[in-house]
Amino acid sequence: MSLTFDYTSTFEDIVGKGNGIKHSMLDKLNDIFQSTRADLLERNAKGDLPFWDLPFNNELISDIEEYASNKKNRFKNFVLFGIGGSALGPTALHGALNHLQHNLLPNDKRSGCCYFCPDNVDPDLISSVFDVIDPNETLFNVITKSGGTSETVGQFLVILDLLKHSIGENWRDHLVVTTDPHKGFMREFCTIEGVKSFDIDPGVGGRFTVLTPVGLLPAKMTGIDIRSLCKGAGEMKEYCFRETFVNNPAAMLAAIFYLAQTKLYRPIHVVFAYSNRLYPIGDWFRQLWAESLGKRYSINGKEVFTGPTPVKAIGATDQHSQVQLYIEGPADKIFLILGSKTFKSEITIPDLELKHDTVAYLQDTELSTLLNYERFATAYALTKAGRPNMTIEMDEINPVNIGALLYLLEAATLYAGGFYNVNPLDQPGVEAGKQATYALMGKPGYGKLRQEMNDFKGIGRNLIEIP
Ligand code: PA5
Repeated sequence: MSLTFDYTSTFEDIVGKGNGIKHSMLDKLNDIFQSTRADLLERNAKGDLPFWDLPFNNELISDIEEYASNKKNRFKNFVLFGIGGSALGPTALHGALNHLQHNLLPNDKRSGCCYFCPDNVDPDLISSVFDVIDPNETLFNVITKSGGTSETVGQFLVILDLLKHSIGENWRDHLVVTTDPHKGFMREFCTIEGVKSFDIDPGVGGRFTVLTPVGLLPAKMTGIDIRSLCKGAGEMKEYCFRETFVNNPAAMLAAIFYLAQTKLYRPIHVVFAYSNRLYPIGDWFRQLWAESLGKRYSINGKEVFTGPTPVKAIGATDQHSQVQLYIEGPADKIFLILGSKTFKSEITIPDLELKHDTVAYLQDTELSTLLNYERFATAYALTKAGRPNMTIEMDEINPVNIGALLYLLEAATLYAGGFYNVNPLDQPGVEAGKQATYALMGKPGYGKLRQEMNDFKGIGRNLIEIP
């Protein structure tokens, strides 16, 4: 594991008065840090926060490896149906650790099955997957912790029908379900039908499940070394429990983000990846940060309407799209830059002996050098403009470092829950939309809400028709 977390440019003496945090602000947070850490340690010891020990579940890793070794060569495609925490983790792992054109590689060059994760119920999206896969060559993985999420269950019914029609009586061989061990519709279905399933520990919240079978099974099926992934995550654990606040990377990351919002009025938290591999981690982190910290009520039940707004960006691409705003626009953002010293591939810009100033300096230079210099240049420009920023840099993008990074960000979310004084493990706000969807779709028990929605005056009264 080799990661560096550099938060120098978040301090006031570097980014300027009013723009950065003061050491005294951190000192004031120390008590909350200590009590949050003590609480997390205690809950870890009691086993009521199983997230902390997911990387050490060797039995599960072996089960997944065994299952995948039997299935990987049999299927060309792996199609994941899930949403939110049941999709973003696997997709972040796929993006970071598989070839960036994984599905287009010839079979003998690809590390595992082609990966598809249409995490929406947009019929165009789902159809587009069906247009390019043959069900006979496909393993479908339905992932839903609750077993009842309407998007995923809807997708499941579609593929169940497809499998029964296209495969016939052996349809079960093409299906694997990842769900709660005891509860929910999908668990019941697997038990009755004898469909292969993996368990999601009920104590692990949806957006913290990347190191359960939710993330590990798709990773292994597509060719990722999940043992190294878990090794990196496991090694990160002791750093996340370090007792000294300023040496604890998870607590410091959380504290800086929290102070940026509450003391510096910077509620927008931008994850700026300087690598196409690290970019999907921005999607995963957006859910983790937003659902965990965006809360109406504090732990004490007081109405607080708190939480940061996470945003993702990619360098160098967004230097030509967003950076103008980041440097000169409202001072409402703090940046977490993600980067890597090295890349899996290297391309040297050839020396064509052109003398023109526009190109001469680029010749005989690696693209990785150009990209990383752009990363430093952006950090420098942000700092000079008084925009606080911090960087997590890894020596290379490999399973160990990605495991460590994801674990660090999850642990930071738990500490952030302590600083914001909210429960980072629930998501009551997602429920209202879910209930309304059930009502509109005619789910039994939602008749009253459906009537209420029919009488709703907030939609369709002020229209501009553009025929
Ligand atoms: O973090 C969460 O709990 C949610 O975002 C869930 O992951 C999401 O709603 C999907 O839920 P489920 O896995 O139960 O289908």
